[in-house]
Amino acid sequence: MTIRETLLSIEQLEISYYENRKQVPVIHNVSLQLYRGETVALVGPSGCGKSVTAQAIVGLLETGFKVTNGAIIFKNENISNYTNRHWEKLRRDEIALLIQHSLNGLNPIRTVKKQMIETLKYQKKWKKKEMEPYLHTLLQQVGFTDPDYILSSYPFELSGGMRQRVLLAMMVSLRPKLLIADEPTTALDVINRDKVLVLLKKLQQDYDLTVLLISHDKQSVNKIADRVVQMSVGGIVSESTSTL
Ligand SMILES: Nc1ncnc2c1ncn2[C@@H]1O[C@H](COP(=O)(O)OP(=O)(O)OP(=O)(O)O)[C@@H](O)[C@H]1O
Ligand SMILES: [Mg+2]
Repeated sequence: MTIRETLLSIEQLEISYYENRKQVPVIHNVSLQLYRGETVALVGPSGCGKSVTAQAIVGLLETGFKVTNGAIIFKNENISNYTNRHWEKLRRDEIALLIQHSLNGLNPIRTVKKQMIETLKYQKKWKKKEMEPYLHTLLQQVGFTDPDYILSSYPFELSGGMRQRVLLAMMVSLRPKLLIADEPTTALDVINRDKVLVLLKKLQQDYDLTVLLISHDKQSVNKIADRVVQMSVGGIVSESTSTL
């Protein structure tokens, strides 16, 4: 039996919202563990705090929200009290978050190529002449047969499913260790939903990713997740089902 290495461990996390100096708890006592290389689905009713938890992991909580207790341990380091500079580095090199409603996350008036190159430039390591072949490979990886056409397109010229695949290619372009996808399929029709889920699984294997998939849709989640964990209102997480 192989020993499973923990990549991310959320320990009794509490997040609060401050309104007129009053502290309102949003989630409390959330504990969740991700092992390297697995796909874990986080499911739960609307408003229970799935997105807030995802935002806390990458240091992107909205104004007014704060981690008020517990810890987020990534690669054995408590990241919950990181500075902005550290968070930026973490988002550039380690953890990618595909945010909810991110179909609009692409700038409609800039070509896909411009935006993908901008993303790569966050990492200083890319030489200019390496970028385009790499983007070609990535776009092929997410199922496009004519990468040149996609690169020269503006997002408004692409369908929802195509834009979601471009976004996924963008996310994996930085080679993160952990990919958090917050409702990556809810804005899509059933056919594209399945395509994106299959793609997510493929990317997970191709790039050795650990994936945290947040979704309402239990059926599709069951198709690709190694484990499904359930969050309830207020934020207790329990492991309820396993598809293994
Ligand atoms: N900007 C905000 N201002 C005040 N409260 C907020 C804000 N965003 C979220 N909340 C509250 O925080 C709690 C958790 O919200 P969150 O968006 O994390 O839920 P969720 O589980 O992702 O729901 P959904 O499945 O609908 O996406 C909710 O009770 C919500 O009302
Ligand atoms: Mg949400």
